Amino acid sequence: MIQKKIVFVCLGNICRSPLAEAIFKHKIKEKNWHQYVEAASCGTANYHVGDSPDPRTIANAKKNGVVIQHLGRQLSEADLKYYDIILAMDQSNYQNILRLSNDTSHRKKVKMMREYDSIGKGNDVPDPYYGGEKNFQEVFDILDRSIESFIHDLESSILRTS
Ligand code: 4NP
Repeated sequence: MIQKKIVFVCLGNICRSPLAEAIFKHKIKEKNWHQYVEAASCGTANYHVGDSPDPRTIANAKKNGVVIQHLGRQLSEADLKYYDIILAMDQSNYQNILRLSNDTSHRKKVKMMREYDSIGKGNDVPDPYYGGEKNFQEVFDILDRSIESFIHDLESSILRTS
């Protein structure tokens, strides 16, 4: 039974959040946990609705052994109700997400992705869009580390209730 529904959120939903979703799903599959968790990703903007992820993100993920399959989607107020945990990539995403709902029960689901990062806790996941391969790899490493520790936290809540 699905116990936690998670959505990763960035601006365009073509670089950071689809990669976060893919890394998360990759790790969850390795643990054989797909019956417990559901994951998605969205952008706060509508620029890339229906688009595939950035080819540089797809290539970098592949290089790191992670397959991405996603089409761009914009976050809506209904998503704040539906998902249990909403993970923002940066402060600007975080503020844009909070603008979608005044409901306290929705707002308290919103967290910064790097709250889970042991290095640079609470910092932004930098937007690699105007960068090069070095920036895409930096984003991969940050997400890989943050998601590993996020899953570790999730583990205790899942094991408690399963
Ligand atoms: P993302 O990166 O938020 O990590 O998907 C961006 C992708 C596209 C744009 C901005 C950021 N854009 O302005 O089109």
